[in-house]
Amino acid sequence: MLSEMRHFLKETDLSPAEMAQVFAAAAALKAGRGRSAGSALAHQSWGLMFFKKSTRTRVSFQVGVHELGGQPVMLNADDLQISRGETIADTARVLSRYLHGMVIRCHEHGLLEEFAQCGTMPIVNALSDFLHPCQFLTDMFTLAERFAPGRPEQYAASLKGKKVAFLGDTACNMANSFVLGGAALGVEIALAGPAGFEPSAAIRAQLQADGLKETFTFSTDPAAAVKGADMVYTDVWVSMGMEAEKAERLKLMQPYQVNTQLLSLAKPTAYFMHCLPAHPGEEVSAEVLASKQSIIFDQAENRLHVQKAILAHLAAHRG
Ligand code: CP
Ligand code: NVA
Repeated sequence: MLSEMRHFLKETDLSPAEMAQVFAAAAALKAGRGRSAGSALAHQSWGLMFFKKSTRTRVSFQVGVHELGGQPVMLNADDLQISRGETIADTARVLSRYLHGMVIRCHEHGLLEEFAQCGTMPIVNALSDFLHPCQFLTDMFTLAERFAPGRPEQYAASLKGKKVAFLGDTACNMANSFVLGGAALGVEIALAGPAGFEPSAAIRAQLQADGLKETFTFSTDPAAAVKGADMVYTDVWVSMGMEAEKAERLKLMQPYQVNTQLLSLAKPTAYFMHCLPAHPGEEVSAEVLASKQSIIFDQAENRLHVQKAILAHLAAHRG
C-alpha cells in the first residue's frame, strides 16, 4: 500500500513521536556526516524556491539535498512565470511533473497550502510570514543536545517542562512557531513584547485546530518572562516585509533587547538563542551574542542535520 503524501508546512504536521524520530535521525546524520553517503533522495530532484532573501536556509537545504543523494534545483521566484501571473495551482501542477519535492520560502502562508493541495509532491515550509517550522525544530534539537547529551532517543522528552523566554517581536513567524511547537512538545513559552504584539487569532486558531492546550503566556514585562528561563530567544525586530514599520518597531521594542543584565535574570545555566541574522545593538547586545551562553552557531549548523532528517522522513512517506 502506498503511504500518504506528507508535507511540513507547520510544526504540527509532524506528531510529537515523529519529531522524536527526526531528532534521532538528525543526530545520526550529524555524527556520520562526511563518512557515509546518504541515499534517501537518490535519483530525485528537489526544487528550492525563494520569494525572500536567505543565507542559512538556502545553503543548508542545497547542501542537504545533495548530501542525501538528490539534485537540488535552485529557483528564484522572480525568474519564474509565477512572477508574471501564472497561477500557483498551475505552477504546482507543472513542477510536480519534474520534481520530487519542493522547499519554499514565501510571504503568504496560503501559498504553501495551495502548492501542497494542487501539486503531487511533498512541500516544506522554508519560512512564511506565519511560521518557520524548520528553524523551530532545529532550535529544539540544539537545546536537547545539551539537556540529554549523547542520548538522542531522549531529546524530545528532555524538553518537556522547560521554560523558553521569547523577547521582542512576539507576533512574528518565529514567535508563532514557538507558540505552536512549544505546545506540541510540552515546552513553556513566556513571550514578552510590546502591547499590540500578542499572539494573533490565527495562531491561537491553529492551536485549537490541532487540539493543543496553550503552553504560552504573553506579558509586556521582559524581566518576568526571563525569570527562571532555561533558554532566552530573540529574533529581528523588523522581519522581512515589515520594513515600513522599522522606525516605530525599533522604538517600541527597545525595552526587550536581550543584554547581559536581562539575561542575568534567567537561570544561570540558561542558553541564548537567535535564528539569525542578528542585528547587534538592536534585539540583542553584541556582548550576549558573543557570550558563553550563546549557542547561535550550533543552531545555524544544526539546520543542515535536522532538515536532512525532515527531507528523508517526507521522502520515505512519498509512496
Ligand atoms: N534563520 C534563517 O532562516 O536564516 P536565513 O534567512 O538566512 O535563511
Ligand atoms: N522573523 C524573521 C526570521 C528570519 C529568519 C523574518 O521573517 O525576517
